[in-house]
Amino acid sequence: MFRFGVDYYPEHWPEKRWSLDAQWMREAGFNTVRLAEFAWSKLEPQPGQFDFQWLDQAIEILEEQGIQVVLGTPTASPPPWVMSLYPDAFLVMADGRRMTYGNRREYCPTHPGYRERSRLITEAMARHYADHPAVIGWQIDNEFGDRCHCGLCRRHFQIWLQQKYGDLEALNRAWGTIFWSHVYTEWSQIPAPLDTAAPQDHGSPNPGLALDYFRFLSDVYVDFQREQVQILRQHCPKHFVTHNLMGFRYDKLNYFDLSADLDFVTWDNYRRMQWTLGQPVIPSTAALAHATMRGLKRKNFWVMEQQAGPGGWQIVSESPRPGELRLWAYQSIAHGADGIIFFRWRTARFGTEEYWHGLLDHHGEPGRRYAEIKAMGAEVAAVGETIDGSEVRADVAMILSYDSRFAFQIQANNPGFHYATHFHDIYQTFHRRQVPVDIVSPDADLSGYRLVVASALHVLPESVADNLKRYVAMGGLLVVTARSGVKDKHNAVVDQKLPGLLAEVCGVAVEEYISLAPGEENGIAFVEPGIDIPQRVPASIWCDLLEPQEAEVVACYTADFFAGRAAVTRNHFGRGQAVYVGTLSAPIYEALCPLLLEWAGVEPLLATPPGVEVTARWRNDQRLLFILNHTSQPQTVQLEDQYLDLLQQQKTIRGATTLDPYGVLILVAN
Ligand code: GAL
Repeated sequence: MFRFGVDYYPEHWPEKRWSLDAQWMREAGFNTVRLAEFAWSKLEPQPGQFDFQWLDQAIEILEEQGIQVVLGTPTASPPPWVMSLYPDAFLVMADGRRMTYGNRREYCPTHPGYRERSRLITEAMARHYADHPAVIGWQIDNEFGDRCHCGLCRRHFQIWLQQKYGDLEALNRAWGTIFWSHVYTEWSQIPAPLDTAAPQDHGSPNPGLALDYFRFLSDVYVDFQREQVQILRQHCPKHFVTHNLMGFRYDKLNYFDLSADLDFVTWDNYRRMQWTLGQPVIPSTAALAHATMRGLKRKNFWVMEQQAGPGGWQIVSESPRPGELRLWAYQSIAHGADGIIFFRWRTARFGTEEYWHGLLDHHGEPGRRYAEIKAMGAEVAAVGETIDGSEVRADVAMILSYDSRFAFQIQANNPGFHYATHFHDIYQTFHRRQVPVDIVSPDADLSGYRLVVASALHVLPESVADNLKRYVAMGGLLVVTARSGVKDKHNAVVDQKLPGLLAEVCGVAVEEYISLAPGEENGIAFVEPGIDIPQRVPASIWCDLLEPQEAEVVACYTADFFAGRAAVTRNHFGRGQAVYVGTLSAPIYEALCPLLLEWAGVEPLLATPPGVEVTARWRNDQRLLFILNHTSQPQTVQLEDQYLDLLQQQKTIRGATTLDPYGVLILVAN
């Protein structure tokens, strides 16, 4: 069943209001509601005293309206009594400061007492709701994250290291602790990488230690989550288990690992927030997040929190324009969402999120936003089953490496370089051309893709290098960008010419690299100008000076002492090809994209005017084409074939077709 619903906090409102809320939810077409993920103090007001009566009643009222329920385990925000029991369970930040009570997600994920309390509330809820007919699944905690640096984490890190390395000699070798005489002779000497060094050394721990610490903390959350997964699986075998992740932007957890234990991924999708005030809404940002969430398990996902109004805590963000909420929700669906749950039903009158607007405003009367989503509810009722479970297919994949992302957090390489921006720059070139892209892990099976991009694949274990080589040898087109293959799995620099383990497949050696100062620019000129290739594109941030071994030169630098040296190369390897791009700034990817698509034989879904996005979902041979107008103006697309428009009672359309501002078409070939 396609899931359409809302996040609801009955505990924020008088009981006598609940029936009206449920009625209006049903009228909006909602079939699913998420409840209780911040209700620990009401579910367990005193240690071991559980109260489910109020939640039972809320669920019953929803059930009467035909609405089913996802329950959140409430462990993201402990009641004061939990933290009074364990004063040492407050998270310690990288600067050594310990949090105090008053926000949420302020717990240390390692703390055994906190973990026990979390298991107890999870188990009590699981037992109580295991056979409830209206409950369909669970969301564990809420948006896991945040790195803790407390003494307990440090001790657990030491144990984690012991299990990983076995003996200290291996660890000292892997991290290169001979540097600055950091050779450890006892496990207990190993620190957590706090930012407490002299100010000029701020945040400069041993890169091997820091990467392992980040991996360790990611594992801690995976483990914390697993404890709850196991309890829920044991007591509630009929229910699904998920967690609400934070899209592409969140970079402190290895999301591939975190999602492995879940039935499917859900995530929280906000386009206009206080923190993005004044910035344009860029469709590819959401698209990349959706693709990442889909890629974690290579499976459709839900949006557990889909924006329902202006979002802010202290400041109110721009209001979504009429049609935007609907458009963003359809964009989620277009990229593989099988469930859309809006955050939140009614805007809270109190608490930190007073200005994070729900579908209803504080006063609780239906208004413009409710009407918009109610109209969408009627559409979803008509088309949801056609869409549900259909899959996104892509010929292009981009490799997302959390190890590399963590490594760049430790050493950015250049102040202008940001892994996420670099990744998005490349993703955007495909997105702009309506070419679907999958986001996959470094060890994913790549054999189904025509084109794979390894962008700044900095930490490169041998197994991943082999995976890429195999892919090219079998006929794939691999694109490798600068700063790839620089580090071994311990975050030490390799002792070969770069791109290290990828040098052979790329047929190239980096003879020297130049980190450009902020504002400094070089240029890149293509050796053989083609139809779509500009004569010269600017290059900033980084320049690898390439020495082709087997590879042919595609483009060269235009200035400085390395004018004329190779900047982009292309190599034939086995049955495939590898393209190496020696610079990190966006224009070169934009310039290269048409060439890469041509070499890989990848066709865009449709040519569109700027601001119009196209995606496809497939069920067997049936293709659903989603066309989304992200602009405030009408836009016209040319449809070569004849289609049925699913949102307009299957009206037949062909030729020039105009979309309303923020309009959506869902088409199926006729
Ligand atoms: C999400 C979070 C919600 C709510 C929302 C608005 O990140 O999961 O609980 O806080 O943001 O701030």
